Amino acid sequence: MSEIINGKELAKSIRLKLKEEVNELKNANIRPKLAVIMVGNDKASKVYVKNKSKACEEIGIEYEEYLLPENTKMTELLELIEKLNNDVTIHGILVQSPLPEGLDANEAFRKISPKKDVDGFHPVNVGKLSLNQDCFVSCTPYGIIKMLETYNIPIEGAYAVIIGRSNIVGKPLAKCLLNKNATVTVCHSRTKNLKNITKQADILISAIGKPKFVTKEMVKEGATVIDVGINRMNDGKLIGDVDFENIKEKVSYITPVPGGVGPMTIAMLMHNVVKASKQH
Ligand code: GUN
Repeated sequence: MSEIINGKELAKSIRLKLKEEVNELKNANIRPKLAVIMVGNDKASKVYVKNKSKACEEIGIEYEEYLLPENTKMTELLELIEKLNNDVTIHGILVQSPLPEGLDANEAFRKISPKKDVDGFHPVNVGKLSLNQDCFVSCTPYGIIKMLETYNIPIEGAYAVIIGRSNIVGKPLAKCLLNKNATVTVCHSRTKNLKNITKQADILISAIGKPKFVTKEMVKEGATVIDVGINRMNDGKLIGDVDFENIKEKVSYITPVPGGVGPMTIAMLMHNVVKASKQH
């Protein structure tokens, strides 16, 4: 029997706990606050940012949004980040990516104080994750680990295969799984014999943004399949990287899209903001 991992419900329960924690912090005069910077008009980013603001509102995290025009200069963006770094009332800073052409997202991430880097994108936090030290872990990998742990899916000793090597998901997820003693392979567009590798995975994670890329033949019987893909089709429907309908009976656990990894990413962002406010 396969079980569908309910990221939506799990994220809700995490948000509820965070809400209680935020109330307690307020009694101690700490008011967690997140600043989100968005540059330009990327449609998907607008939806993500809206969902982040909704989650903040629900939990009682204060939220400030900076919507900058498409033609913003790098120096202006860096100046704003510097201002927010120096604002003691702000605990978390997030620069929504992608940025418009001509702006360097990595430079922006590097400018954010590592102590306020709730996305876990600053090289200091990336390095600390590599060294298995306490840090801000980027939210999607963190959410995936939380899902596996909540459903008691063994990570230690498991063979985990990740498709996709992005800085936001694939690479940090590989480190998270390695830190938890999995054996990890990261596959990407140049990987040869992909199916031979994915078929061996106890835990298979796809994070490439290609609708229904992972087919039944690529998956081992009884595996756990985590789908990070959020692909919006022409009819507005969201489709994952995984051919969910054809795979779901073959595996032990599988995440749906929507309602799987997506809500967990936002819940873990909220977790990181609360953590930042406590360390402040
Ligand atoms: N763009 C897509 N995902 C993310 C994310 O997790 N954080 C930021 N800052 N931008 C993103």
